[in-house]
Amino acid sequence: MVDTSDEWIIKRTGISERRIIDKETPIYTLAVKAARQAIEDSGISPEQIDLILVSTTTPDYLTPSTSCIIQKETGAVNAAAFDVMAACSGFIYGITIAKQFIETGYYKHVLMVSSEGMTKAVDWKDRKNCVLFGDGAGAVVLGKVEEGYGILSTYLGSDGTKGNLITIPCFYMPDEEVEKRKDYENKIALYQDGHEVFKFAVKMMPYATEKLLEISDITLDDVKYIIPHQANSRIIESAIKRLGVALEKVYTTIRKYGNISSASIPVAMDDAYRKKRIMKGDNLVLVGFGGGLTWGSALLRWSK
Ligand code: UT7
Repeated sequence: MVDTSDEWIIKRTGISERRIIDKETPIYTLAVKAARQAIEDSGISPEQIDLILVSTTTPDYLTPSTSCIIQKETGAVNAAAFDVMAACSGFIYGITIAKQFIETGYYKHVLMVSSEGMTKAVDWKDRKNCVLFGDGAGAVVLGKVEEGYGILSTYLGSDGTKGNLITIPCFYMPDEEVEKRKDYENKIALYQDGHEVFKFAVKMMPYATEKLLEISDITLDDVKYIIPHQANSRIIESAIKRLGVALEKVYTTIRKYGNISSASIPVAMDDAYRKKRIMKGDNLVLVGFGGGLTWGSALLRWSK
């Protein structure tokens, strides 16, 4: 489709495989599947869910929201539902919202789903971006856990002045957005200034991690894994060099799934969980960054 090579992609991004959703299949089917698996794994019934949150950059509809579709498909009849738009940081934003509701006692159980069909958003003539993104979904059920466990702290940030670095237009197309896509086949496809976002990401990943550690009174020595947004293995390598930690401390799935935007952190978490790489009491740092621009980090002490 484009002038590229497996060698370039692996060397410059660390991506070897990815999953691509069928064009005719709605992206919410991934979200529903992940949601059902998470509910089953949690041991609660769908009726016990009080709130459904979904992070997605690629909704099938603006309304109904993907969270409302999940509500219908899972039978979570007692749940309120809304979507969170924070691009690749969406999972961190979502679990931060969930944490507030649970801590205040307003809700007992929150289902948080991150679901993305990024390959539907890219232009397949744009070689800088079409090689990066994949499709997938991850989900968690959140609820009160024993003291000292769970989401211990989170940190969020944004910089709207640099929003033009990653755009997916919806109902408004100013000249500058038209110009960015002049060589595209799909004139409303995702645009990304990869170079500038790369510079932002290599600074932001360590910054958001350090900010989190500062407010959490914990050091990286106490952390089992950093689970970052999986955008590019070179970003991850550069960031951990800045943080001064060994590569083994970082949990990555980018090789297999590519960049699945907000779904990349919960998918990596699920991978680690299923492979029994995380055990009760392990501290995990989740750190995300992306469009908006947005960023965020969360410290979890695993309690399942
Ligand atoms: O999830 C949201 C956050 N997103 C990110 O974190 C993405 C951040 N950015 C990146 O990961 C990297 O910038 C990319 C992977 C997108 C690009 O890597 P890069 O090292 O920044 O490459 P570049 O854009 O500076 O391009 C280097 C060269 C150029 O050729 P010339 O001008 O040096 O001759 C590109 O035209 O590589 C060329 N190039 C390609 N060559 C083969 C760009 N894309 C490709 C390609 N195949 N697919």
